Order: sequence, then structure tokens, then C-alpha cells
Amino acid sequence: MRLSDALSIGDVERLAKRRLPRVVYEGIVSGVEDERGLARNEAEFHRYRLLPRAFADVTKRDQTASLFGRTFASPFGVSPTGIAGIFRRDAELMLARAASEARVPFVMSGASMVSIERLARIDPANTWFQLYAARDPKISDDFLRRARDAGFGTLVLTVDNPVPPKRERDMRNGFRLPPRLAPLDMLEALLHLPWVIDYLRRGGMPVMETWAPYAAPDAGAADVARFFRTQSPSIQTWRDLDDFRRAWPGKLVVKGIMRPSDAVRCIEHGVDGIVISNHGGKALDRAPASIEILPGIKAAVGDRLAVMLDSGVRRGSDIVVARCLGADFVFVGRATLYGVAAAGLAGASRVLAILREEIDITLGLIGCPRFDELAADFILKDSGEPTPPESALPRPIAKAV
Ligand SMILES: Cc1cc2nc3c(=O)[nH]c(=O)nc-3n(C[C@H](O)[C@H](O)[C@H](O)COP(=O)(O)O)c2cc1C
Repeated sequence: MRLSDALSIGDVERLAKRRLPRVVYEGIVSGVEDERGLARNEAEFHRYRLLPRAFADVTKRDQTASLFGRTFASPFGVSPTGIAGIFRRDAELMLARAASEARVPFVMSGASMVSIERLARIDPANTWFQLYAARDPKISDDFLRRARDAGFGTLVLTVDNPVPPKRERDMRNGFRLPPRLAPLDMLEALLHLPWVIDYLRRGGMPVMETWAPYAAPDAGAADVARFFRTQSPSIQTWRDLDDFRRAWPGKLVVKGIMRPSDAVRCIEHGVDGIVISNHGGKALDRAPASIEILPGIKAAVGDRLAVMLDSGVRRGSDIVVARCLGADFVFVGRATLYGVAAAGLAGASRVLAILREEIDITLGLIGCPRFDELAADFILKDSGEPTPPESALPRPIAKAV
């Protein structure tokens, strides 16, 4: 299959799987512990059906979405994904470029391999900066300064990872920074020569440029990664949030909110938006799926802050469902990583185009020409009751002859 033949995110994922050594590919797909949260994210989306409205004029369809004073071409953006540079060198630059061309926001990860300054050359007005707060507050302050100087208008503070999660699949695979592959996995990697050659030709593991200025002056890629681990994760409190609010003049978003009461508290602390997220199943395995808690959070906060969501989005129709349940905006993490891993800029662009097209088709099929007019009355939820065994079903009434 070629990229141009890829019809769905699943197809693009298959292309990424073909290009990457197994251990590296699994670094994208993996979750934590038993990976039930990972499975739940997608399964919960499948419990929602869309009820089509008949005789609607859907000749012209509009999926633009406004957020923080800007209008985006589509109601979704690219979630921050650190270490993207492992999957393809300079992947972050390609993701930023693809997002800019598609006129959707790109969130640069605070664990990015490409520096803030290099990313700022793409489209700073379209780039948000995600911060993993450092244990040393001076480092966090400096990140804010650099992000502001770079022209990024929105800060995203990720809070769902206060302690290192138990990523068992990655641990078994030796997928860490730097990766430590078992001999059999090294042999398997040879089946993916273009990736291996590119990785080795560029000097092996890329440096986490964003963190490099704070590590020792002669630190190599592995040293910078180890330094990052001494600083992150760090435990943050509401008081720290107040400090960030005071220090950051632009829009402030908290990523990883799961409780309605926390969402309300974010409003009280001057936050402009939240991303309901369980880190795509990479943090707490027993966390609920984002989509199942969205209605409760939306009911609690109303329109007082922007309600965004990620985790489990694989189809344009997932984004439509999220909007019906109250999301102002949606983000994708793995989908665009699959694209960039499979085919660089073209792959990331293809993923964004697939999602855009699927939203457009879904709007047409359900009889709602405008994305911003989607509402809960388009939704039918599967009750979740287990299907009764056949023996428990009422017997069909014998037909009178
Ligand atoms: C490989 C990988 C790396 C990630 N790195 C970060 C990160 O650096 N910062 C962050 O806030 N979230 C990170 N995330 C979580 C994503 O931002 C996002 O919440 C998640 O991928 C959404 O779920 P999805 O992959 O099902 O779309 C990462 C996710 C993946 C898959």
C-alpha cells in the first residue's frame, strides 16, 4: 500500500508499522499496565451513534471552528507528542508544517527533540507550547520566556503525569531514552532498513534540543534525556498553576483534566481552556475514557472556558460525536504520529486530510451542514447493557396458520 492509497487512519498506521522496527512502532501504540485504558478510549467512542436528520440542505458544509479568537479550517489540532524525533528525524517540524498548511493548531511537546527556536521558524502564531513543568522552577520560567520570545500565544500545562506511569510494554521492549534493544529485536529492526539507515546516518538518538540548554555543556543525547528524567515528571499544585497564570500573558490551557470539580477550579484560577485527556491511555490505566466524562464536565463549566478533548480519536466521526457532547475542539496524538512516521510531511498532511474529509462526509450524512450547529440531539448512546444470551430472549410468537 502507498500513502496515496491510505483511506483511513488505520491504513496510515499500517504504513507506519511497516516502516518502523517493531519496538519503535510499539512506542507509539503502547499504553500502560494492561492497556485497558488505551482500549477503553476507542471502545467508548464506538458506543455513540449519530442520528441522521432527513431533508436537510447539506449542499454546502462548513467545519471551521473558532477558538481563542482564531478561526481554524477544521475543529481539530495536533496533540503534543514528545520524542516524535525517534519515529522520524525532525518529525516535529513536519507536524508543525502540516498543521500550518491545513490551518489547524499544532501543540509542540515540552519533551520535543526539536528546539523551541527551530520550531518557531515554521508558524509560531499557529504553535502552542506544552510544558512539562520542571522540578527546578527556574527551568520552567525559562521555558516560558523562550516560548513567549518565539511568538507562541498559548501555553498548555500537562498535569496527568505527576509520577512516572508504568509503561510495561515499553519496559519489556527496552523502549526508553536511549532505546536498548534485545538482540532479537535488533535483528527484527534489520527488516526496516530505511528507518535504521536514517537513524544511524543522523547519529542515532536525537538530542532533546528543548532541554539541552539546561544539561551539562558537553552533554550528549543520552545525557540530556537522563537530565530530563531528573526534572520531569514533577508534582504541581494549584499554587503552581497560579504562578504559571501570573507568568504567562497568553492563553493558558490545562491538559489532563478528568473531574468536573477540577474543571470548575481551573476557571477560578484564570485558565482559558482545558483538554480532557488521559494521555491517550499512557498515564493511568484505570482512567475513564475522555469521551465518557465530557458531558459531565461540559455541564459543570458551560461556556466559561474552552472545553477540548483528546484520547482515542481515530475517525472524523469521533470528532463529530465529541462536538455533539460539548467539545469546542478536539486533538489527535497517535494519528498524526503514524502519518509522520510513515511518510514525513506528506504522511502527516494525509492524516489531517483524511480526518477533514471524514468530518465533511459525516456532516453531510447526518444532515448538519455546520459543525458548530452539532448538538446532543444527533446522539444515540448504546446503553452498554450486555447482549442477553439467546435463551433469555422472549420466544417468537408462533404465527397463526
Ligand atoms: C508517543 C507519544 C508521546 C506523547 N508525548 C506527550 C508529551 O510530550 N506531552 C503531552 O502532554 N502528551 C503527550 N502524549 C499524549 C498526547 O498529547 C495525547 O494526549 C494522546 O496521544 C491522545 O490520544 P490518541 O493518541 O489516542 O490521539 C504523547 C502520546 C504519545 C502516543
